[in-house]
Amino acid sequence: MSEGVLVTGAASGIGAALVELLLARGDCVLALDRVSVDPRPGVEVLTCDLADPAAIAAVLDRVDPAAVAHVAGVPGTAPPLTVLTVNVLAPVLLVGPLVARMGPGGSAVTVSSVAAHRSAVPDEVLDELLGCTDTAELADWLGRHPHTGAEAYDTAKKALVRWTRLAAGEAVARGVRVNSVSPGPVETPILADFRRSMGEADIDRAAATVGRHGRPEEVAAAIAFLLGPDASWISGTDLPVEGGLLAVRAARAAMTARTAGPTRSRT
Ligand code: NAI
Repeated sequence: MSEGVLVTGAASGIGAALVELLLARGDCVLALDRVSVDPRPGVEVLTCDLADPAAIAAVLDRVDPAAVAHVAGVPGTAPPLTVLTVNVLAPVLLVGPLVARMGPGGSAVTVSSVAAHRSAVPDEVLDELLGCTDTAELADWLGRHPHTGAEAYDTAKKALVRWTRLAAGEAVARGVRVNSVSPGPVETPILADFRRSMGEADIDRAAATVGRHGRPEEVAAAIAFLLGPDASWISGTDLPVEGGLLAVRAARAAMTARTAGPTRSRT
């Protein structure tokens, strides 16, 4: 099938909301998930475990979408190798080749997270991670850079933002756009896992800071915007979709610094 929008993680949460939005605006959807997605008019269902590179290769043989939204992800309650496989290797193996085959007007959006800001892993180490081509290489990277599942989630999302920006840079010459969105906490099934992997307090504090958690359709709307022609002059960006969470944190940090006053040099 050589048109339509490929949506990964289409069975639940943000991906399912995006499918609804795309169908409502008249797009055909290739709905990919490891669990079954209800077939309906305008939707072609692709069942694929993104933890399996061979299954990804089989999908690449079958589809050639005009646009792709990589929404699927696993939380930090999963083992670190699984987190890196689904959240980093899968988009590299799936979205990378699809973007490379797109012509002018093509676009891709990946879904990262504000959790990316929790990772202190530097770009050169992220680039090593992004250079892994199979799970054995990921395991080797993990051996050199030990991560818990929760830490792997944060680092994977940071790596995904970087990958997206670099992929966008390569795609500009072909008229193809690549962007990411970074949601804050959103009311979907994965949020219960985040409560366990990131801690109840952090998740509750985010809602207290901006008044509530996000809704899946609010993130889907941002993805749909970036995928479509209204975003024709936007590429290589990461769009936070978090009700202003990062802005509040920045404002509070600035206020704290002002309150502390200027630091005096000892020399
Ligand atoms: P969700 O749990 O509702 O949906 C995730 C989907 O990904 C599920 O349909 C699941 O079956 C699919 N998936 C997981 N592993 C897969 C695999 N190996 N192969 C194929 N499909 C697989 O969660 P939600 O919220 O819709 O998550 C979507 C994306 O948003 C994820 O990448 C997540 O990391 C990200 N995100 C979510 C936030 C939230 O609070 N809900 C916050 C920040 C980012």
